[in-house]
Amino acid sequence: PKKMSTTKMKKMKSEGIPISMITAYDYPSAKLAEEAGVDVILVGDSLGNVVQGQQSTLPVTLDEIIYHTKMVTRAVTEPFVVADMPFMTYHGSIDQSLQNIGRLMREGLCKAVKMEGGTEIAHTVEASVKAGVPVMGHIGLTPQSVYQIGGYKVQGKNSEQAKKLLEDAKALEQAGAFAIVLELVTDELSEQITKQLSIPTIGIGAGPHCDGQVLVFHDMLQYSSPLYPKKFVKTYANIGDSIRKGIAEYVNDVKSRSFPAAEHTFHAELEIAGHLYG
Ligand code: KIV
Ligand code: NA
Repeated sequence: PKKMSTTKMKKMKSEGIPISMITAYDYPSAKLAEEAGVDVILVGDSLGNVVQGQQSTLPVTLDEIIYHTKMVTRAVTEPFVVADMPFMTYHGSIDQSLQNIGRLMREGLCKAVKMEGGTEIAHTVEASVKAGVPVMGHIGLTPQSVYQIGGYKVQGKNSEQAKKLLEDAKALEQAGAFAIVLELVTDELSEQITKQLSIPTIGIGAGPHCDGQVLVFHDMLQYSSPLYPKKFVKTYANIGDSIRKGIAEYVNDVKSRSFPAAEHTFHAELEIAGHLYG
């Protein structure tokens, strides 16, 4: 896609060109995503679930996100890399939030940060943008507040919820966010939000009307069994199967002594062999 940027993404929205985004958490996955031509890579705190095996994204720390972001940014040149601000790293004072945002940018070398929430975090979004750090918003089902929401439920089903989410989206745009992730939002509401904003919406479980789509690497490639069944995920490959088959074959080969074969084996020079065994 040639060096993606926030301005390019906005232009893509106005031209009706969809934005493709995928998560990645390390060097090989990011490399493959770039080679496949993805526009945006998200170092998501979903790594808590799919990489660390945790029950939620809450335990993921700033140090951990920085560690993974470093690996991803080392791997890619063209895709735009966004990293998640972890749970409770942007809810203290503005000073504390900016310090955490600064660390992630300076050490992770990403191009933007993503924060969950609407009107409640608009002032933090504004402060970040004023400091020169682009912010991607994230509303709808926000996994960092799953215990307040009461589960992984579709958002915006009733008019009260829909009104609040539309307000949130507008507040984020007003605060200077360059794009907004809509997670588990009804098709009707994400269409409305997408129409009313000048910045792109990126959907996950939010229907086809968003300006872009994002999926979690491990979900779409079947690299692990998901935490909960996800109707919105499409399977594009089953690398879990390939890996399991490959390893099982290796185990068999070791047990049957058919690996290593002659071509994998080194030999001493003849004289030395003669001396050793002669
Ligand atoms: O952490 C993540 O993977 C995300 C996406 C689902 C948007 O926030
Ligand atoms: Na996330």
